[in-house]
Amino acid sequence: MKAKSVIGALATVAMLAFAAGCGSDDDGSTASGGGGGGGGGLPKVEKKDTYKVGFAQTESNNPWRLAQTASMKEEAEKKGWQLVYTDAAGDTTKQVADVESMIAQQVDAIFLAPREEKPLVPAVKKAKAAGIPVILLDRNVDQSLAKAGEDYVTFIGSDFIEEGQRAAEWLIKETKGKAKIIELEGTTGSSPANDRKKGFHDAIANESGMEVVASQDGDFARDKGRQVAETLLQANPDATAIYAHNDEMAIGAIAALKAAGKKPGKDVVIVSVDGSKDALQAIIDGDLGATVECNPRFGPKAYETLEKYAAGETIPPKIINPDKFFDSSNAEQEIANAY
Ligand code: AHR
Repeated sequence: MKAKSVIGALATVAMLAFAAGCGSDDDGSTASGGGGGGGGGLPKVEKKDTYKVGFAQTESNNPWRLAQTASMKEEAEKKGWQLVYTDAAGDTTKQVADVESMIAQQVDAIFLAPREEKPLVPAVKKAKAAGIPVILLDRNVDQSLAKAGEDYVTFIGSDFIEEGQRAAEWLIKETKGKAKIIELEGTTGSSPANDRKKGFHDAIANESGMEVVASQDGDFARDKGRQVAETLLQANPDATAIYAHNDEMAIGAIAALKAAGKKPGKDVVIVSVDGSKDALQAIIDGDLGATVECNPRFGPKAYETLEKYAAGETIPPKIINPDKFFDSSNAEQEIANAY
C-alpha cells in the first residue's frame, strides 16, 4: 500500500474508534461509576449538577500544554464546575504531591496527565483508596502496574504509536526510503516518548535504506531540542532527516540547522508531531515537512466522560482522539484553527 493510502487508512481507523467512543480495549476493563459503585472496585461518583474536579498538568513550557490547560479551564467555567488546577512545572515529584493535595481537598474526580509512566502509579492508587476516581488525560501510566477499569477509569488521548507510524510513513515516502535520521525524543519515561519511538521504529524496520543514526532526549522543549540537534548534527554531518517527537523540538532543530548553515526542508527533511501554529507556519515557510496532529483540546471530552461515569454508563478503557495530518497540501487552510 502507498504511504498516502496508509495515512488515509490510519486516519479512518482513528475516526471510527472515536465515533465508537473507544479504542483498543486490551489494556483494561470497562468502568461504570454511578449507583452502586465503579467497576473493578473503582470509586463511584454521585450524579450532580456541578463538580469540584482536579486537573494535574505536567508543565506549561509549550503551546500544546497551554492549549490543553486552556481547554480544561474554559470548559470547567462553561459548566460552572470548580477546577483545582496544578502545574508540576516539569517536576514529576511535584506532580505526585499535586495529586496528593487534590486528594486532601476531596475533589470529586482527578484528571491527570502523568508526566512519566511509572512514578505516577502510586498517586493513582492513592486516589482510588481515598474514594476519588482518576481519568488519565493525554499520557498513560505503565500498563503492567495499573489498569483502566481497576485502578483508574479510562485513558483519553491520542494513539501515540500510530502517530510515530504516520510520521515514518510520510518520511519513507518523502525520502524514497533512503534517509539517515536523527531522532529527537520526548521526555524519557513518558508514554508519548516511548510510543512515538516504537511506532516510528516499527514502521521503518523493514526499510533497509532508513537508518536512525542518533537518538537523544530533547524533553519536548524547543531550546533543549535545539541544543540536542546541534550536538547530534555535529556528530552526524551526513544526516538527511530529523524525526522530532514534538513540534517544539522540531522548531529548535530548524534553528540548529540554520545556525549550522544547512537548509531545513532541503538539506535535512524534518517531520514531527503536534500540529501547533508555529509548526504549520514552518511548513508554509518550507522548513518543516509535515506534522502529525496530536489534539490538545481535552476539556469537552474529559468532563463529558465524568458525567457519563457518574450516570452509571459503561466507560471503555481507552477513548482515542482522532488526529489529522498536516503537510504542504493543507497547512495554509488549517493554520487559522491551530493553537
Ligand atoms: O503528551 C503529549 C505531548 O506532550 C505533546 O506532543 C507535547 O508537545 C507535550 O509536551
